[in-house]
Amino acid sequence: MADTNGPAQISERLAGVELPRHIAIVMDGNGRWAQRQGQPRYAGHRAGARSVREVVEACGRLELEALTLFAFSSENWRRPRGEVRVLMQLFRTTLDQELQRLHENDVRLSFIGDRTQFEAGLQRRLTDAEALTAENTGLQLIVATSYGGRWEIAEAARRLAASAARGEVDPQSIDEDAFRGALSLPDVVDPDLFIRTGGERRISNFLLWQMAYTELHFAETLWPDFGTEGLARAIEDYAARDRRFGAVTSYPLKSVRHA
Ligand code: IPE
Ligand code: IPE
Ligand code: MG
Repeated sequence: MADTNGPAQISERLAGVELPRHIAIVMDGNGRWAQRQGQPRYAGHRAGARSVREVVEACGRLELEALTLFAFSSENWRRPRGEVRVLMQLFRTTLDQELQRLHENDVRLSFIGDRTQFEAGLQRRLTDAEALTAENTGLQLIVATSYGGRWEIAEAARRLAASAARGEVDPQSIDEDAFRGALSLPDVVDPDLFIRTGGERRISNFLLWQMAYTELHFAETLWPDFGTEGLARAIEDYAARDRRFGAVTSYPLKSVRHA
């Protein structure tokens, strides 16, 4: 029987609903998902990859501009070595398996985070995937890996300080726009909607600068069970929000970079 609730149906399901331009997701709860079924944590990460596929396809069909997925945080290096190894392996194999299909679907891939922490082979794969898909004009899929919001802000400060030391930038001219220009992907619109699965209500060092006015949605669902249905509900929740950006009257839901 055809799936009547999968990514292919999401446009119909959300017809007439005001959509975000950019969604950012903390994909949490893989370990608990596995443990509840008496399986090792890594089985949850594998199952999580299926949910990634579904959500990426759904966002593409909805013609969103950008989707940022938090795959591995700068703090996740503190996990047991075995788990880190499995996560890196899974990252590599999923990228290898999915890259061609993403490319065929006009997805542009970008990675943010401290890639100097990865082994050379993986670093090369990331650069190659970005180069292959650089001209695509569909969904921009941003994978945050070895990423921390504070790391990104510190990096930007370091870049600006180096430019100032070389005499290229006048410190007095460093305003919010100049700072944004030094972030990893300055041209990507700020996320309109943040989603965290797995029940925790925290940001865990995700896009700290970019989320100043993002709408927050927390789902109890564990990431492997989230899929298209969880995404559709999160977008419906978003569509019911009243975004004011500090003003008195409502802004249209579409994001305003500088309100
Ligand atoms: C999220 O799931 C995936 C990563 C952080 C890499 P977790 O592994 O954090 O799963 P829980 O939160 O322990 O259930
Ligand atoms: C956040 O999840 C990072 C990712 C989903 C990649 P964590 O499971 O690492 O966050 P904490 O430890 O609960 O804050
Ligand atoms: Mg977690």
